[in-house]
Amino acid sequence: MITLAVETSCDETALALYDTERGVIGDIVLSQAVLHAPFGGVVPELSAREHTKNIIPLLDRLLSETGFKLEDVDFISFTLTPGLILSLVVGVAFAKSIAYAYRKPLVPVHHLEGHIYSVFLEKRVEYPFLALIVSGGHTDFYLVRDFGRYEFLGGTLDDAVGEAYDKVAKMLGLGYPGGPKIDRLAREGERLYELPKPLISEDNLNVSFSGLKTAVMNLLRKERGARKEDVARSFQETAVEILLRKALLGIEKTGVRRLVVVGGVSANSRLREVFREASEKEGFELYIPSPKLSTDNAVMIAYAGAERYKRGVVAPEDINPQPNIPLEVFGRLFT
Ligand code: KG4
Ligand code: ZN
Repeated sequence: MITLAVETSCDETALALYDTERGVIGDIVLSQAVLHAPFGGVVPELSAREHTKNIIPLLDRLLSETGFKLEDVDFISFTLTPGLILSLVVGVAFAKSIAYAYRKPLVPVHHLEGHIYSVFLEKRVEYPFLALIVSGGHTDFYLVRDFGRYEFLGGTLDDAVGEAYDKVAKMLGLGYPGGPKIDRLAREGERLYELPKPLISEDNLNVSFSGLKTAVMNLLRKERGARKEDVARSFQETAVEILLRKALLGIEKTGVRRLVVVGGVSANSRLREVFREASEKEGFELYIPSPKLSTDNAVMIAYAGAERYKRGVVAPEDINPQPNIPLEVFGRLFT
């Protein structure tokens, strides 16, 4: 079975062709980061216009690079939710048009479900497992009992960890997206500053990153001579420590000793190192996708779409994107 997958929930226009037997046939991710950089974050209107401009040329490129035709595709997988609504509209309209014109079934995917299943492209994980999703819009813990059976365990009460990375990078004048820049800079710094870890001692899986971000802002005001490297290192160590502490609590509370860490921030080199060490020390299984699969892409949407299609679930032709259907609700609706 071959699926064409479409992902336009934020500032990446991504398309993929994926064969359930042979794996990835083609994979294109067009980032708009340069365009949004002067604004220090994604401008929704601009993002939607770029998707509109680029998506058909990208499809032409995907087809010519792989030598496939739309007639070869068995079904269309697409991100239905969550995301910037104007951006989602472009991808969903595109998926629906192809489905209509070529008489192909439409298979909806939740963006976070795509992230979770990104690890399966490299290694199958046994159920149940814990998923920690760390991205620009989300910092959530889920218990995954099976495909489509997601139980929310806790998450951020304010900013996502990726958002905190991006905002701290902006304060340090590093540009957008800030995650990879802080990752690099922190390697040359020292953890000189003690920063707050809100909610760290609470007995639940909720986290908060807005206080940490504000603490960095105050630090920069107070310590005018602070080196950017040291601030980046102090922030990163604190953020990763918070995530690890809560992940260990999740393992302890559920007794599930398999952890999947996905989403853009899981590309972070320090997070990978710290979680890897903890998994060896504490003896739990850890799965993190390779960095290319951590950040937004359409291959992960293809994989999750294929899992759904295998279960016989397709979307009605008049389906419309939604800015935010919770993952656990989506799982119940479409499984
Ligand atoms: O999953 P993703 O590509 O898009 C969303 O669904 O949000 O995640 C993007 C986020 C951004 O906040 C970006 O700064 C962060 O992931 N990110 C990183 C790294 N690479 C991307 N954060 C820390 N270290 C990285 N190496
Ligand atoms: Zn994402």
